[in-house]
Amino acid sequence: MKVSDGDWAQRIRRLAAERDAVILAHNYQVPEIQDVAHHVGDSLALSRIAAQVENSTIVFCGVHFMAETAKLLSPSKTVLIPDERAGCSLADSITADQLRAWKAEHPGAVVVSYVNTTAAVKAETDICCTSSNAVDVVASIPTDKDILFCPDQFLGAHVQRLTKRTNMHIWMGECHVHAGINGSELKQLVASEPDAELFIHPECGCATSAMYLASEGVVPAERTKILSTAGMVTAARDTKARKVLVATETGMLHQLQKVNSNTQFQPVNRAAVCKYMKMITPEKLERCLVEGTDVVDVPTDIAERARQSVERMIAIGTPSRTGE
Ligand code: 13P
Ligand code: SF4
Repeated sequence: MKVSDGDWAQRIRRLAAERDAVILAHNYQVPEIQDVAHHVGDSLALSRIAAQVENSTIVFCGVHFMAETAKLLSPSKTVLIPDERAGCSLADSITADQLRAWKAEHPGAVVVSYVNTTAAVKAETDICCTSSNAVDVVASIPTDKDILFCPDQFLGAHVQRLTKRTNMHIWMGECHVHAGINGSELKQLVASEPDAELFIHPECGCATSAMYLASEGVVPAERTKILSTAGMVTAARDTKARKVLVATETGMLHQLQKVNSNTQFQPVNRAAVCKYMKMITPEKLERCLVEGTDVVDVPTDIAERARQSVERMIAIGTPSRTGE
């Protein structure tokens, strides 16, 4: 089962066809997996594809909550993940019990949860969002309603700034990978690369301070973009910059360089590697297709309620205001 033997990609595609499986890969997956997948994208795009494909099996190369979301949207399909232990530190930052207690403190508030949550948390949620559509989702809620936004504090701060919403309560969760990309690193790098553009994922610990630095003129506002992973691919296609500094998980660099080979894409922090995303290896993908494991399932009572919160998000439509 060697990836280097050159036949690996062909075997994967053949095994997938034999199982009537579609392979979905998140933008943070290792390059071999991105290249062999039928579809590569961000959380929102992959949720939409999962809901639409006709294949009887979905193989989700990403983290567990993403595969769970695919199962919610396609309950009659078999959903497989190459390693079910691929979790997410952000999803772990709020439990269903904690959310229930928070709701009890704010009766009548609308709960908006990032899709980086467990199905049990989604079941306690009114509407989900991803980094591509969080602004649209919050803007769709009547202004007189309080909002409980969870679990990412940095995405929450970004959305609050763009929507100018004053009645939004934000859970103080974070992703350990993105929180580790901080404003001082960014400031140093920007000073040494005065012509570079900046792509920043809104989960980054630096997203709030990057905007502060922009307003102070330290980081060039016109060259700073807050983008979801899909937004980064679109912006990479369009940019004429010689260099772009990228503040997100380093797996992202593969797609960016692929869509634009004229620009150099440099990570703001080379250590920003999600160990959970990297638990999905080429060898495990092959095992998954051969053995039909690990199967992703969600208990029916949780699935019913969780599905509604994801479907409300999908009904909001195409993201229009991810970044700035
Ligand atoms: P996207 O929604 O931008 O794909 O991000 C998902 C994620 O897990 C970021 O860490
Ligand atoms: Fe979760 Fe962070 Fe990994 Fe994304 S990068 S899957 S938010 S731990």
